[in-house]
Amino acid sequence: MHASIYIATLVATLFGVPATATGDSCKLYSQWMASSIISREQGIMTGAGGSSEALQAGFVQKAFTALSAYYPNKASTYEPYIQKSAFSTTHFLSNASYNALSYPMDRLSNGNAVLALSRANGTSPYRITAEALRQSITLNRRNSENGLWYFVYPYWSYLDGMYSLGPFYSLYTLTTPSKNSSAAAAALDDMVYQFDILWEHTYNASTGLLTHGYDALRKAVWADQVTGASPYVWGRSLGWYTMALLDTIETLDKEKAPSKYRTSLLEKFQTLIPAVIKNVDSETGGWWQVVDQAEREGNYIESSATAMFSYSLLKGVRLGYLPSELATTAINLGTRAQKLLTDSFVVKEADGTISYNGTVAVCSLNSTATYEVSLFALELIPTVTSAV
Ligand SMILES: *[C@@H]1O[C@H](CO)[C@@H](O)[C@H](O)[C@H]1NC(C)=O
Ligand SMILES: *[C@@H]1O[C@H](CO)[C@@H](O)[C@H](O)[C@H]1NC(C)=O
Ligand SMILES: *[C@@H]1O[C@H](CO)[C@@H](O)[C@H](O)[C@H]1NC(C)=O
Ligand SMILES: *[C@@H]1O[C@H](CO)[C@@H](O)[C@H](O)[C@H]1NC(C)=O
Ligand SMILES: *[C@@H]1O[C@H](CO)[C@@H](O)[C@H](O)[C@H]1NC(C)=O
Ligand SMILES: *[C@@H]1O[C@H](CO)[C@@H](O)[C@H](O)[C@H]1NC(C)=O
Repeated sequence: MHASIYIATLVATLFGVPATATGDSCKLYSQWMASSIISREQGIMTGAGGSSEALQAGFVQKAFTALSAYYPNKASTYEPYIQKSAFSTTHFLSNASYNALSYPMDRLSNGNAVLALSRANGTSPYRITAEALRQSITLNRRNSENGLWYFVYPYWSYLDGMYSLGPFYSLYTLTTPSKNSSAAAAALDDMVYQFDILWEHTYNASTGLLTHGYDALRKAVWADQVTGASPYVWGRSLGWYTMALLDTIETLDKEKAPSKYRTSLLEKFQTLIPAVIKNVDSETGGWWQVVDQAEREGNYIESSATAMFSYSLLKGVRLGYLPSELATTAINLGTRAQKLLTDSFVVKEADGTISYNGTVAVCSLNSTATYEVSLFALELIPTVTSAV
């Protein structure tokens, strides 16, 4: 997935980091990245962006929604763009079975904005898209243990999809009136179960980390014969899952869901964060592409995973989801990572926009998934030509 450029926006959003380079002193990186994204028309679905296009749109909507809430005086700039992005998705995501068969689970990241925009208007394209996205969870293919396939790869489940599934599944269920309360309870149980089953298959007790995914049939060349797990801890995948836990708990709390749903998610978040902290690169303050193999040849500090862990640490403290004895460390590491990102990975372009460097393009398990393949090529996300 190629969406990592937006992660910088989302992370910067929450803390409003001011740019410090000479001449930029009155700019905030979050707003600067947002105006750069708008000028490149990123996050608007055109149908030409491949299977990760839906995630890019959904991620822009989520980042801009956070940005609007954080800077209400800028909402008149960001809200129309959220609407433009969401409207562009209604053309592509309004067929539930097509959604389920042809887009990765990341499509569900678009559900939050279309739900907010539809406000129970049964006929608007936003409402139709929200319903089609929700229905696509029911139609999504599953393995024999009821785990959702991430995409078209038979019986493979990835951590990545949870970032889009968890918050939308929760928000839809908790805000859509239902005559059948047991169906609503079953949906929330299923949502929590999807986190559980990924954890059960991919958690490695000796590292305290989760690997990228698993093959329920254990047939893939990379699959562990007992658990089905893939062999390596990919930073961005773990980052999606960590942010998913955080944002889902936030949604459950905001919508006053019964506390039993948050309990196992919070426990997972609090179990993962110490392992994430343990694996920070002490020299730079970033995280490695293959998280737990710092010294291995070819490994590098990967900027999207670094942004995601920074987000998780800082937001985890802000919302009180981390034990107080971790707060100081979490704030220090999160802030340090953010400085690394703005000092070393944000690229200032000649046209006055910014872009984001040092992020891996994609890291698919549709491969041998060896260490070498897991490193993949670094990609400088181009500015104007960036594939949306
Ligand atoms: C929805 O998508 C399915 C699966 O691709 C397809 O068979 C069906 O014709 C589509 N329905 C409409 C109304 O386009
Ligand atoms: C509902 O959506 C339709 C189609 O977009 C629009 O024409 C209508 O004004 C909307 N109604 C309300 C009450 O928002
Ligand atoms: C209510 O939802 C439950 C759980 O999904 C389902 O088993 C049951 O058939 C539903 N009842 C009705 C009347 O739709
Ligand atoms: C857990 O991780 C360690 C360190 O990378 C590795 O040696 C071990 O084989 C892993 N265990 C399983 C069950 O995959
Ligand atoms: C982007 O990162 C790569 C790899 O670290 C580096 O070689 C390149 O100079 C960077 N590009 C810019 C524009 O900073
Ligand atoms: C998976 O990899 C094969 C071989 O490289 C390729 O032909 C195929 O298109 C890939 N599938 C997807 C969905 O990317």
